[in-house]
Order: sequence, then structure tokens, then C-alpha cells
Amino acid sequence: MDQKLRPARRRFLEHSALGLLGLATAPSWLSAMEMPFSKGGGGNQPNPSFKPDVELELIAREEGVSILDGPKTQVLRYTARLITGPKEVLTELPGSYLGPLIRLQQGQKVRIQFRHDLSEPTITHWHGLHVPAEMDGHPHQAISKGETRVYEFEVLNRAGFHIYHPHPHGATASQVYSGLAGGLIIHDPEEAKLGLPSGDYEIPLVLQDRSFDRNNQLVYASNMHERMLGFAGDQILVNGRLGGGIEVASRAYRLRIMNGSNARIFKLGWSDGSNVIVIGVDGGLLEAPERYPYVMLAPGERLDVWADFSGQSLGTVLTLGSLPFKGVLPKMATSMGGGRMGASKLPIGSAYPIVTFKVTQKMSDSPTLPMHLSRYQHYRLDQVMNKDRPIPIAIKESPMAMLLNGQPYGQGGFQPFERVPVNSLQLIEIFHDHAAAMEHGESSVSPEEALKKPSGMGGMGHQMMGMGGMNHEGGAREGGMGMMDGGMMMSMAHPIHLHGQQFQVISRTIGMGEEESYGTVKDGLISSGYKDTVLVMPGERVRLIKPFNDFKGVFMYHCHNLEHEDMGMMREFRCVARNKERD
Ligand code: C2O
Ligand code: CU
Ligand code: CU
Repeated sequence: MDQKLRPARRRFLEHSALGLLGLATAPSWLSAMEMPFSKGGGGNQPNPSFKPDVELELIAREEGVSILDGPKTQVLRYTARLITGPKEVLTELPGSYLGPLIRLQQGQKVRIQFRHDLSEPTITHWHGLHVPAEMDGHPHQAISKGETRVYEFEVLNRAGFHIYHPHPHGATASQVYSGLAGGLIIHDPEEAKLGLPSGDYEIPLVLQDRSFDRNNQLVYASNMHERMLGFAGDQILVNGRLGGGIEVASRAYRLRIMNGSNARIFKLGWSDGSNVIVIGVDGGLLEAPERYPYVMLAPGERLDVWADFSGQSLGTVLTLGSLPFKGVLPKMATSMGGGRMGASKLPIGSAYPIVTFKVTQKMSDSPTLPMHLSRYQHYRLDQVMNKDRPIPIAIKESPMAMLLNGQPYGQGGFQPFERVPVNSLQLIEIFHDHAAAMEHGESSVSPEEALKKPSGMGGMGHQMMGMGGMNHEGGAREGGMGMMDGGMMMSMAHPIHLHGQQFQVISRTIGMGEEESYGTVKDGLISSGYKDTVLVMPGERVRLIKPFNDFKGVFMYHCHNLEHEDMGMMREFRCVARNKERD
């Protein structure tokens, strides 16, 4: 490229990084967003032959709650009422805008009648649960005020900690941000036998970030830039409350941690440098406890942590905080931090405390950490149906689009690889689709084609990036972004979530040039256990094996950066009958 052009182009890069969304032409996702917004009309009736063990009424409504001193904060909040079933099913989190904790047993038949009082349609999804497609809270099932959506399902999952949250297309991020979310715990006999800390010694920790204005009202993403990166608030709330301090006894605890933030990624670590002892992840218990120096926790992910305060003297304070890390945001965005770029006074990747535990009670007795936690099958490549043809999930990022597999949500119908035979085990590969981004938003190769391309270092991602022009000029790769003519491709981390049954991560490969920032997160990426959300770092390629058992129908997959999801970074699989039998 011409030397003289370089500075101008450079300036353009900087300029567009700052005003990323101040583009002359409207990004395509703007129009894409307007198209499939959830409408109401998803109401349905209970099935009289379904005999529930547990029946709940769940309501979403606007309420004022006291979060800060002074005026109440207007939030959206789930409340629930038990109609049938044991009273342990519902536990309120006092003073929180979060919905009550719902506690279920494997094998229970559950009916939930959902209504709301909101001015816009909504629908509730059971993130992590393996339920029929019609019970999954699909955006098309959204209901308006006055309608009721009835969910009926049997709890098939093993023990685990899940989430219920809204899923209307185009408004998930703002509704969750306004307060709609709750935890859902499932127990099973295998877990019960372990005698893990329970009752007062099992503490749910829902981590979220929020910003407030002077009148204590929630402030949400005001500019398009915040939407592109995902919204980050400047205060950390734990279980919907500020200033998380918890008094504990000198014994072991079970911490059920959920990242309920829209976009904030945490790097969780203990203030005294001790390891984080992980006993479970999204889909339940690991086979055995694992020790990590820190653990990355992206939106939608959960963690089951063994926190042992036994032997600690009275007054001891231990803080669980987020440690510094790099690489999840476009580097240019972070290096230019501050200003309106960062918006948040608490940048993602900076160091800050989250929750403090203070030992205020001496106890001589404490349960001990079990050596073995669970038994489950490890999926192997030779068991999958599509060993040589992984289902692609191609991440495409540019100011013009945030897409999966080259199409925004609701467009293009199902691509052939998005039709998955029911009762099959599938290999899925998530990668960054830089090739498509280089073509001004048009996919030059289908994601399937892209997967087939030979690649030097194990991925088409960096092979394509190497061809991406700016490398030869030097510079563009600094910043972890390829630069395209007239536009910028942002490379950032995405927590990819798949509805339906949990999967197992079988490999992660990082592209060239990303190792340095990757080094600040990699020891906290957990690949064991069952997952339903996986953080995919810039330049990273993640392979996983997922079962699609029991239920035909539509199951979504999307980025759990909720701003990305609403922009259309969401697609769906259609689980179809095997052979030629009709769907
Ligand atoms: Cu937690 Cu499709 O979402
Ligand atoms: Cu989900
Ligand atoms: Cu994303």
C-alpha cells in the first residue's frame, strides 16, 4: 500500500475506534434488529393430563427496590408463588431485585405459569435446562401483558445451577439489565450422597454490574458503541445488592456463582492468592475437584466453588475479586480506554473486589472436600456423527455486523448444517470468521467451506488474518484487529451459549499473535465438565461435542453478551427426525 495513505488510514482506524458507531452508513444490524423483534401472542393453555409435582406462578413486573441510599430504583422483577409442591422450591433473596431461587429435584414434573405486567412482550427461558423446544422460552413464544405462557416439563438435568431470564428478541439485554433474572438449582441423588455444604453454608452469588444516575435509577447503554462492545456498568452487585460483604463461620462453604452481567467478564481469584477450588461448572459437578489460580467467568456461565474457611481465625477477611486481564475487548478500544469509549469507570479487565467474606464465628467441625464428585461419560470424537464435518459456529464481528454463521438472527432460514438429527452426538467448532468480515460483510465462503480450508497452524482464522492486508503494513495486527477497507473488524471475546443439552469442550486452539493476552486468561478457562456457555477468546478455536437428544424442534445458539445477542448474534438449530420421517 502507498506510504502516503498510511497515516490517513491510521487516523481513520483511530477515529473509527473512537466513534466506532458514528459511521456514515447505518450498520446492517440496525435494520436486522428491527425485523424479528418479539411480538406477543405466545400464550398457551395448561395440558390437563400433565400432573405436576411442582406448580408455580411466575410474574414479571415493575417495582421499586432499595439498592442505594435514598430513592428506590425502578426495576423489573420476577416474583413467584408456589401453587403445588414442597416449600423449599422457592427461596427469596431478601432485598434483591432478583427473582427467587427456584430449587427442583431431578425427575420432578414442573408446571410454571408465567405472566407479566410489562409494557413490552417478554418470555422466560430456562438457561441450562434440557426441556422440549416448546418449553424453552423461544423469542417467538413471547407474550404480551395479560397473556399467560404455561411451561410443563420434567426435570431431566443432573444436579446443577441454572438461570431463568427473559429471551424476547431485541429486548433481552435491557430486560435482564432492568432486573429480570433468577437462579434455578437442580438436585439429584448422586449429589445428595456427597453431603456438600447446604442450607446456610451454600451461598448463591449472582454477579452483575450496573450503573446508576443521581436519582438512583439504572442507566443503560446510551450509545451504539456500548452496544457493540456490550454494556459494562460501574458498580458490582452481588445478589442484587451493593457492597457484597458476607459473614461466615470457620468451615467449608459451597459458593454457587453465576455471572448474570450483560457483558462483563470476570477473572475470579482470592485475595490471599490461594487457588480457587472448583467442584462444578454450568452443567453440574465435575468428576473431582480442580484447583485453578483464577477462573474466568463470562456472562451466562456458572461455577460451583468450595470455599474453606476452616482454621481461619475470627476476624479474618478474604476477598473474592476480579484480577487484571487483557484481550477480551478490541485492543484499540481498551488502549483508548476512559472517555466515552470505556463508558464504565470500572473497565472490564481491571482489578476490583467483588465480595468479601469475614469470619465471625468459630466452628470446630467442617465437612471435608470429597475426592470424587460425579461420574459421567466423556464424549469422544469417534462417537460423533460428523467427525470430519464439524458444525460451524463462525463468529463475525465488524462495525457493520455481529453475526454467527454469516447471517443475523431471523434471516436466511436454517442453513443445512443447522438441521441436526435428533438423538445424535455432534462435533461443533466455534471460530472467528475473519474471512467473511474482510468481504465487507458478505460471506465469501460458507462457514462450512471455511472449516474445510487447509490451515497452517490449526485454524483458518489466523490464516485469513495473515492475508488481511494490514499485516504487511505492520501495525494493524497490534491491537488484535484486522482492518478492512472502510471498516474495522473488532476481535473480541464472545461467550457462546447453546440451548438444550450441555456439551463438553474437547479442545481449544489459539491463533498466532493472540498468545500474550491469552496468557492472562488461559489458566482460568475450564474445559472439564458439562458446559452450556463457553468463552471464546479472540483468535481462539473451540471444539465441543454436544448431544441433541430427546426433543425435536428449534433450539437457539447465540452470544451471551446480551447486547450482541440482541443485535442478531443469534441463530438456531432445528433438531429434526432422523431418516426421512417427518419433523
Ligand atoms: Cu441464557 Cu438463550 O440464553
Ligand atoms: Cu439458554
Ligand atoms: Cu458476542
